[in-house]
Amino acid sequence: MYTSKSILNLQTNQSAEQTEAAIKKHDGWFYKYNFSNGISTNLDNELINTIHQTRADIIFPYLDEFFGGKWKGVKCLDIACNQGWFASQIAIRGASEVIGFDIRNEHLNKANEIKEIANLQNISYVNKNLFDIKDNEFGTFDLTLFLGLLYHLENPIGALRKVRSLTSKMCVIETQVTRTMPNSQILNGADTSLKTGSSIGVYTSDKNHVQDDLSIVIVPTLDALYQMLYAVGFDRIYLAVPPKAMYDQYSDFDRVILFAQVL
Ligand SMILES: C[S@@+](CC[C@H](N)C(=O)[O-])C[C@H]1O[C@@H](n2cnc3c(N)ncnc32)[C@H](O)[C@@H]1O
Repeated sequence: MYTSKSILNLQTNQSAEQTEAAIKKHDGWFYKYNFSNGISTNLDNELINTIHQTRADIIFPYLDEFFGGKWKGVKCLDIACNQGWFASQIAIRGASEVIGFDIRNEHLNKANEIKEIANLQNISYVNKNLFDIKDNEFGTFDLTLFLGLLYHLENPIGALRKVRSLTSKMCVIETQVTRTMPNSQILNGADTSLKTGSSIGVYTSDKNHVQDDLSIVIVPTLDALYQMLYAVGFDRIYLAVPPKAMYDQYSDFDRVILFAQVL
């Protein structure tokens, strides 16, 4: 079992019996939550836990460094927060405000249960589709988390534009990417010069994670993702290079973590 050094236990004033009863109200925990009274949520799939713990170990050391002990003033938006595992970790680091949103109430109910157990006053959760967020609805955030969503979308560039508009300093992007293929090429009417571009992949969707009944998802290669991030207005992009010992989808760059900065 891989355990992240960056995931902090959630403090609670509840007794072990109270917490156990609270988490038993819900089926299907997607994350391992550890509470100060010794109670934890359990996952059926150890590989999913390894992926979460690996992501945490890549993301949090960088963020802790970037915000350099000044979490107190930080506003964070966790996009597609699911059960709020990452949002909770930002909240207990002392961020002034954390908002998490997702399209599935079943996930938000669990996120709210965790909020209550750990008395996380600085978090709120809302049911929201990323594409429905209106300009100025939430304002902008020092930190946006865009984790595990890009590869479940049919409009990745639209999503990235929206994410950029919500970010004032730093966005963490975590996603599967399409393996690099020979570059694609195109002709364009009277323009007979062949243009070379980076590629995208089109795949059938994973019904458990997509919005509505999307049948396909469009997933860029890493190269295409760089281009897209600069096109939507991020100023600097830093790619995390995980050690070989970490889960191989990360060390092989099939699944990547990027820190995109706004200057
Ligand atoms: C693979 S999970 C990732 C959850 C979490 N961000 C993480 O990295 O652990 C994908 C999540 O995206 C949510 N989702 C899918 N499409 C969405 C959309 N258009 N707006 C908001 N949430 C969405 C799903 O309900 C699901 O909780």
